[in-house]
Amino acid sequence: MPDAKIAPSMLSSDFANLASEAQRMIQYGADWLHMDIMDGHFVPNLTIGAPVIQSLRKHTKAYLDCHLMVTNPLDYVEPLGKAGASGFTFHVEVSKDNWPELVKNIKSQGMKPGVALKPGTPVEEVYPLLDGENPVEMVLVMTVEPGFGGQKFMMETMDKVSTLRKKYPSLDIEVDGGLGPSTIGAAASAGANCIVAGSSVFGADEPDQVISLLRKHVQEAQ
Ligand code: DX5
Ligand code: ZN
Repeated sequence: MPDAKIAPSMLSSDFANLASEAQRMIQYGADWLHMDIMDGHFVPNLTIGAPVIQSLRKHTKAYLDCHLMVTNPLDYVEPLGKAGASGFTFHVEVSKDNWPELVKNIKSQGMKPGVALKPGTPVEEVYPLLDGENPVEMVLVMTVEPGFGGQKFMMETMDKVSTLRKKYPSLDIEVDGGLGPSTIGAAASAGANCIVAGSSVFGADEPDQVISLLRKHVQEAQ
């Protein structure tokens, strides 16, 4: 299993102080910063886009792990690449027809391509994106319905993580939604190595302790 990457979700940060919130998370030991980009259409919420990524990039060198909860991800590739995004994870539910073009464009912008699945989407839907000539480099298994922070972890999604881990031992597998001290054990033992955590990190009195605990679970499962 690849290295642990702990990615606080900046959706739970104080957006009015995004630069200092980002710097604080890196000081606390975060590996990546998870950036939730929503269009108010694919999900019933609206957040940030390329202009905010561009502004944040001026204040941090951190890996910006962008999760695109949007209906037309292709439209976002060039703006996000130019803004300084590091990872670009699109949803399989909206990319059934154009994923080869998407992956090619993401890589040509120097970003790492990933594919995300909603809780109700079968894991087999991402196999073509992993087995082809130009594969994605990460799978994000949503452990809540996308759109909002602070929801309850869906244990039933763990079957998808273990199926993926068995089939792809060296793949980056990310989980997102409801991760924290009480759910990390299940996610890490199923084989997830990239852990997104919003409310459990930002809501903690000692976020650094939560980040270390999440990492410890992934390392122990390795
Ligand atoms: C939900 C987002 C998540 C969210 C996770 O649609 O993709 O990244 O911020 O937040 P928590 O960890 O609070 O469930
Ligand atoms: Zn997310």
